[in-house]
Amino acid sequence: MCGIVGYIGNKDVKEIILSGLEKLEYRGYDSAGLAMINKDGMHIFKDKGRIFNLRKIVNNDVESTLGIGHTRWATHGVPNKINSHPHQSSSKRFTLVHNGVIENDDVLKYEYLSKVKFESDTDTEVIVQLIQKFVEDGEPVDLAIRHTMSEIHGSYALAILDKEDNNTIYAAKNKSPLLVGIGEGFNMIGSDAMAMINHTDNFYELHDKEFVKITKDNVEIYTIYGNKIQREPYKAEIDATDIEKGTYPHYMLKEIEEQPFVIRRIMANYKDENGNLHIDEEVLQAVKQCDKVYIIACGTSYHAGLVGKHFLENIAGKHTEVIISSEFVYNTPLLSGKPLFLFISQSGETADSRAVLVKVKEMGYTTLTLTNVKGSTLSREADYTLLLHAGPEIAVASTKAYTAQMAVLAILATLVSNNINIDLMKEFAILANVMETLCDNKDIYDKLAYQYLKDSRSCFYIGRHIDYYVCLEAALKLKEISYIQTEGFAAGELKHGTIALIEKGTPVIAIITQECINLNTRSNIKEVKARGAASIVISTKKLSAETDEIIMNDVHGLLTPIASVIPTQLLAYYAALHKGCDIDKPRNLAKSVTVE
Ligand code: AGP
Ligand code: GLU
Repeated sequence: MCGIVGYIGNKDVKEIILSGLEKLEYRGYDSAGLAMINKDGMHIFKDKGRIFNLRKIVNNDVESTLGIGHTRWATHGVPNKINSHPHQSSSKRFTLVHNGVIENDDVLKYEYLSKVKFESDTDTEVIVQLIQKFVEDGEPVDLAIRHTMSEIHGSYALAILDKEDNNTIYAAKNKSPLLVGIGEGFNMIGSDAMAMINHTDNFYELHDKEFVKITKDNVEIYTIYGNKIQREPYKAEIDATDIEKGTYPHYMLKEIEEQPFVIRRIMANYKDENGNLHIDEEVLQAVKQCDKVYIIACGTSYHAGLVGKHFLENIAGKHTEVIISSEFVYNTPLLSGKPLFLFISQSGETADSRAVLVKVKEMGYTTLTLTNVKGSTLSREADYTLLLHAGPEIAVASTKAYTAQMAVLAILATLVSNNINIDLMKEFAILANVMETLCDNKDIYDKLAYQYLKDSRSCFYIGRHIDYYVCLEAALKLKEISYIQTEGFAAGELKHGTIALIEKGTPVIAIITQECINLNTRSNIKEVKARGAASIVISTKKLSAETDEIIMNDVHGLLTPIASVIPTQLLAYYAALHKGCDIDKPRNLAKSVTVE
């Protein structure tokens, strides 16, 4: 959610920060701002709206080699200029940007800051006022910041400037992501590596409750108690061109089209020198030795988890339960004797999932993260990690990460199974070709979206068996980018209530990829058509009827979700395109949801 970029060095900071913030736009935000220090003092530019608005208001005559920038996803106070970051202490000495949520801001205001006049409605302003208060009480700046860290409860990534010291950026983190980028004659901070990758591929990860002092030639990391930490930097393996759109009009379309290549890349990465599928033996043993797998995830990753359950139970014979991260705390299932917790998260930063990880680690259980981002929080904190190798996913709507998640889960299930009777390498090769063909014929999705979805208020996806899980994902995709209210339904469940919503022209899209449900789902289509619905059928060649709108070539029966989701992604894309929606950055959404 939202982002931070900071730079201290020899170059003019404006473009470094503005283009860094643009690289973080994918995370979702509603306001943007920038603070710079030079010999004339502090310069702040901020407002609600996109970075291109910020570009218009930044004064190009101000030159500075030290600055911090922010994109805000409002949690406390509406998106407007005053609530936009950076925020300043009353004395204007300290300037700060913050990602996250402070849970005890009201208590702190009452306890320490009752005489302070607050300018904004944000929780953030409490932090900067508290730092100032502790400095006024006589504490050195380092201590005042660490003292503040010990008073605030919640999540924070902070970058702080002190007007009286134009050689330092202070930073701190708890739960919200923040990295230090290391360069020759400069250093940076940023919410993720992508914001800095054009300048450096060398990073220090930061852990919770750590405090950092950054000058242009030095980075010092401390615990909240002021003990210095020695840490080795790591190299990020991101190709700067991976995060460009190239000739594509939208990242989402680029990422949909990348899916066949991602499957091939996964095959290459999960192969040993003999060409056989391979996963680290320790990870396999952990899964083999547990008596039940608990998959924990949100949104699209949750939907991939449902398919993962199908794989683990049907291929590997492992009992598996899938739980929405944010529900785990309240609806904690009765746990088995030897559980393994499998976290699925594209970003590896989702706060709801992390809260579960922290809890089950405290309980002493084994944890495995399936993520696209090496070095992400969920990856660092789990016992084991499996990577997706999908390449950076920028569009808020997840596409290639979903198919990659299912592909890696299929590999895991196959290798855990003692009874491998599926040649996954061969099946993946076929699958990638089928996916390519599905991506080639775009006209059909464009026309169907124009005819049936563009002017619809609501829509239904129906399917049975494993197709039902794809319907849930298909519905999420359509609603999140086109704002058409869409529900994914188990086809047989429709007649138990929801069929009442079918009106003349309501689009009902059916997915049929399994022989055992073909006839039943087709009966359901007849039922809705009899009530006026406009139906679209996505089927496989083997099961197709002549009238089906989208027919995909056959793939292995277990792997159909990895292909059948593609038409639904493209229908969502074209529906949103025809409605003129902001496809890569849908309203109200953030790419990585780092608040609970
Ligand atoms: C997908 O299109 C989403 N916007 C969203 O549901 C996402 O899948 C969810 O927030 C989980 O994110 P994660 O995989 O990074 O944990
Ligand atoms: N809670 C802060 C606010 O509402 C920060 C939000 C963010 O992470 O951008 O301003």
